[in-house]
Amino acid sequence: MKTAANGFNRTIDLKNVSISYDDLGEGPIPVIFLHGFPFDKSMWQNQLEYLQSSRRVIALDLRGFGKSKNEETALTIDLFTSDLIEFMDKLAIDKAIICGLSMGGYIALNSIHKYPERFQALILCDTQCIADTTEGKEKRYKTIDEIENGGLIEFYEGFIKNLFNKDSGINNKEMVEELQTVVFSNTQSSITKGLVAMAERTETCSYLASIAVPTLIICGREDVLTPLGQSEFMNGKIKNSILKVIDKAGHVSNLEQPQEFNKYLSNFLNAIS
Ligand code: MLT
Repeated sequence: MKTAANGFNRTIDLKNVSISYDDLGEGPIPVIFLHGFPFDKSMWQNQLEYLQSSRRVIALDLRGFGKSKNEETALTIDLFTSDLIEFMDKLAIDKAIICGLSMGGYIALNSIHKYPERFQALILCDTQCIADTTEGKEKRYKTIDEIENGGLIEFYEGFIKNLFNKDSGINNKEMVEELQTVVFSNTQSSITKGLVAMAERTETCSYLASIAVPTLIICGREDVLTPLGQSEFMNGKIKNSILKVIDKAGHVSNLEQPQEFNKYLSNFLNAIS
């Protein structure tokens, strides 16, 4: 059974939010997984299960998502970053390996820029360092208006369509349905606040050259939301980085091709420890 006693769905109170997290396995430097928008920690279930026999692995629900309910506060990438650092402080984690997918990657990049001493290595999955373009930003705010006037259905349909590689709906129906359930269980407020957080994020590309820790970059070849070119760009800028491209994967490569993803992840973790 998945209970707090065996590491699942634990809760820790930060200053003004309760964070729900899974904390499995043992080891001196945990890997902390940050989910994308608008998912939750369950998207890392497969990676946690795969790695927990050899190291400590933690996946948390970001403020406003999953079981970390928070309707009151406006969301920003800086706020997610300070939550992460406060979370690490509360759990007495001095240093971690940080792994973020998409919006989780925006937070990982911001965190390593602001608190480089807190991270031993970086894993960037299906993400990018650029800020939204003017058009991208306008599109997010238009979407927010549409959601506020007409609800979430249209947003969900459009969003889900762009997530997966083209064969997922046929070959991986169960995974697609599970992720849809996670996406559909968001509140309107967490969706609109998350969209604002991403629209208002600042670029982190100008800091990439100062990243000094080993970095693994993973991207699905068919990712249309944060396309491969973005990962190639980061790979060119981060000195100590390697790039792994996963075929037959779109924006959620850890879910679409878990075996290949886990192989790259564990090879990287073994090489740096
Ligand atoms: C995500 O998966 O976190 C988002 O799609 C990223 C974004 O929209 O910029």
